[in-house]
Amino acid sequence: MATFNIVWHPHPVTKENRSEQKQQRPCILWFTGLSGAGKSTIAGAVEEKLYQRGHHTYLLDGDNVRHGLNGDLGFSDEDRVENIRRIGEAAKLFTDAGLIVLTAFISPFRADRQLVRELVEQGEFIEVHMDTPLTECEQRDPKGLYQKARDGLIKNFTGIDSEYEAPEAAEIVIKSAEFGIEECADQIIDYLLANQIIYARAK
Ligand code: ADX
Repeated sequence: MATFNIVWHPHPVTKENRSEQKQQRPCILWFTGLSGAGKSTIAGAVEEKLYQRGHHTYLLDGDNVRHGLNGDLGFSDEDRVENIRRIGEAAKLFTDAGLIVLTAFISPFRADRQLVRELVEQGEFIEVHMDTPLTECEQRDPKGLYQKARDGLIKNFTGIDSEYEAPEAAEIVIKSAEFGIEECADQIIDYLLANQIIYARAK
């Protein structure tokens, strides 16, 4: 980091105040996986369930963030590293706001995901591996991008001519080819309940 004369300014309202107000423990549900693995779909379904339970959330989605904040970045290794660095910092700000953050980015490199893990407090980074086989993603091909990559029209496409480094010890592994959307979302809600990130609702 560049060394400018900048000193951190502590403010009276803290992360703890903001989290308490929302009656939740802030965290980042970091979805990682191939394009077409179902990251955005399952993240959206989990956010909906959290919203219905009264939680305050925010979903940062790869394709959407690349329209704005990261609109200047492409898909070279260098740009992907910067993409994840900025998202990590943005997600950290949202956890400081007391929110449960969901991020849906391919985030193909292990080292970059590790950097985000180290950016936030112990236990706040929850890696969700959308463990969907390449053959399944390619068959789904919701945006027709795999076909374009196979035809050589898109370069550096993850899984085709750019690497995806699968997590070695993700907190949650989701097999989206084997379960429906609801079931996958429930598996994540169950993890949050079991780890007291959220609490069972009074009957
Ligand atoms: S990441 O690798 O930097 O984490 P990110 O999740 O932001 O990627 O963006 C991935 C999305 O961009 C894909 O879902 C796909 O729609 C689109 N995309 C366009 N070009 C590529 C490419 N070369 N590799 C992967 N995804 C691409």
